[in-house]
Amino acid sequence: MIDYADLSARIAALTQGETDEIALMATLACELHHADDRFDWTGFYRVVAPDLLKIGPYQGGHGCLVIPFSRGVCGAAARTRQTQLVPDVEAFAGHIACSSSTRSEIVVPVIGRAGRLIGVLDIDSDRPDAFTAADQAALERMMQDVFGDL
Ligand code: SME
Repeated sequence: MIDYADLSARIAALTQGETDEIALMATLACELHHADDRFDWTGFYRVVAPDLLKIGPYQGGHGCLVIPFSRGVCGAAARTRQTQLVPDVEAFAGHIACSSSTRSEIVVPVIGRAGRLIGVLDIDSDRPDAFTAADQAALERMMQDVFGDL
């Protein structure tokens, strides 16, 4: 299990005073991806138009460039503003398979000041049922800490 307290302290130190969304996303994607062997694709999709996500900073193999809110796990997270914890991607209707090795994933909405939807954090794993409620709680808190005032 990832040491979220340690990771969050490192991220806070690295990102202190930074307000550029892309710089923050790039730093988080890197730090998260290398912190846990379960994470095979770690990155952000950004809201670029009403109901439209585009790829942001990420680590791992290439991701889909464009995801409408109506599609996939990322779209569901953006549409509902609720974290999507998917233990088995094959059981999720409309899952977008960018990598056939992906078995499970978690997608956390990234919300700024006054409820502005900035994008989503998407972490994919090649292991089935890789993510827990503890991951969800820690990642939601991390997104709030880093992006909540932007
Ligand atoms: N997890 C996404 C798609 C995979 S990415 O392009 C890396 C989804 O179904 O929303």
